[in-house]
Amino acid sequence: MQEDYAVTIPMRAIAEMVGVSEADMPRFREGVRVLSDGLNGWRIARTMFWDLRNLVKFVRELVARKKQNPSDDILSGLIEAEIDGDRLSEDELVSMVFILIIAGFETTANLISNGVITLLDHPDELAKLKNDPSLYGSAVEELLRFSGPVHGTKMNYAKEDIEMRGVVIPKGMAVMPILGSANRDEAVFENPNVFDIQRDPNKHLSFSQGNHFCLGAFLARMEAKIAFKTLFEHMPELELASTPEPATMPGWYRYRDYRVRVR
Ligand code: HEM
Repeated sequence: MQEDYAVTIPMRAIAEMVGVSEADMPRFREGVRVLSDGLNGWRIARTMFWDLRNLVKFVRELVARKKQNPSDDILSGLIEAEIDGDRLSEDELVSMVFILIIAGFETTANLISNGVITLLDHPDELAKLKNDPSLYGSAVEELLRFSGPVHGTKMNYAKEDIEMRGVVIPKGMAVMPILGSANRDEAVFENPNVFDIQRDPNKHLSFSQGNHFCLGAFLARMEAKIAFKTLFEHMPELELASTPEPATMPGWYRYRDYRVRVR
């Protein structure tokens, strides 16, 4: 009998690396969920004024506990790290945990899950990939362009009045470049809405550009390549069991509640 499986993002490994105990897992899981889903529509106000405060409180408690009882995890290492007599402040430690979770884990985990859905949704491209594993590198680039998990940057502020295509952005105005839109720019990409794992050139902006270019870009690429290769080598018969529906949130691109099955 064929069985469907709901796909969820495993959090145990990142929790262990940060130093979250089994007892704290429900709060950690809820925190990561808030960071991924909580900036969606009407939930923003609740996230900003309630959930995020609770999350920061949880991370501060975690830092306090690790100071008392250090163990073999990243947070204890950061607490003990010292350069020229200087240590990280509590606020810096809390920020580091957020960076690890949002920048380092949440993004790549969603690149992998978005990528699995996109590949299963394009069986012809997936067949090419299975026949020629040398295409994994360019497939990851196309997945980053076509259904990458991060569609916006942090807020930028205009240092002076800037005119772009007849629109003036006044000095001081907040601007969020939408990378996901740039990645479908028909002036740059031929047939931008076509998913093509052999696309070349593929100058997508999924890791942003300039001074704030993603620090983890090469790690994320490597992780994704290994994950796709391992998954499709071990489970070549995987297929979608539900129609993928992207959830739109400012700055993020995610699929929700999708199911797969083994043929
Ligand atoms: C698919 C995975 C990832 C995507 C799509 C992604 C995307 C991005 C983007 C678009 C930015 C620029 C934000 C801006 O301009 O405001 C950024 C910055 C950053 N990313 Fe990533 N990222 C990913 C994975 C990672 C990983 C694995 C790490 C670390 C291990 C990481 C660490 C960072 C950091 C520290 C910054 C801030 C750089 C700065 O502001 O100077 N990212 N990332």
